[in-house]
Amino acid sequence: MDDMPKNNNVTWFDGYVSRDDREKLHGHRGAVIWFTGLSASGKSTIAHLVEKELHRRDCSTYVFDGDNVRHGLCSDLTFRREDREENIRRIGEMVKLFVDAGVIVFTAFISPYRQDRRKVRALLKDGQFLEVYVECSSEVCATRDQKGIYAKAKAGIIKEFTGISAPYEVPENPDLIIRSYKEDASEAAKRVIKLIEESKLV
Ligand code: ADX
Repeated sequence: MDDMPKNNNVTWFDGYVSRDDREKLHGHRGAVIWFTGLSASGKSTIAHLVEKELHRRDCSTYVFDGDNVRHGLCSDLTFRREDREENIRRIGEMVKLFVDAGVIVFTAFISPYRQDRRKVRALLKDGQFLEVYVECSSEVCATRDQKGIYAKAKAGIIKEFTGISAPYEVPENPDLIIRSYKEDASEAAKRVIKLIEESKLV
């Protein structure tokens, strides 16, 4: 099977219903709100609060969460540099399809490398990718950590742990910064909604 060529005889078919048509049906545009930050920084909590509010407004939404995706689609991947790259690449491709479906997608992955995040942005059109940096030090994240993973990382039981023994590259030009060490999750969610409104997604 090793000599089986990849991407052989596959042709993209656009279908009869366009993204524009789907967006008209939904009454809003498709886009991804990409949360990035350390584990336990609050990405997922804020993403779910924003989703709840947009769902209340009849928007089509979905949240992709780091731990969940690593149970299925990316269960074969480790936390080594190249596997994290592959994790974000797969998620980026999946998100692209959801955006084409006209959905407002929220992602909550550490996504620690700038280059990987940049590649996802490049997959999408202008205005379809909003980056939200959830800023919080590893010391504060460790105090919130219910899974006990920071303690394990500090003890060297978990290797290459972001913020302890693996790098996190701070976004250079995010669309929004949430300082979750001093900002309440519901206030943060309101600021994300404001960003979504200002970006004319809804
Ligand atoms: S990413 O770096 O590839 O974007 P992802 O968001 O999917 O990471 O997964 C992060 C979650 O995996 C963390 O919230 C944590 O629960 C768990 N985890 C397990 N090992 C590690 C590790 N070495 N570094 C960071 N997170 C880890």
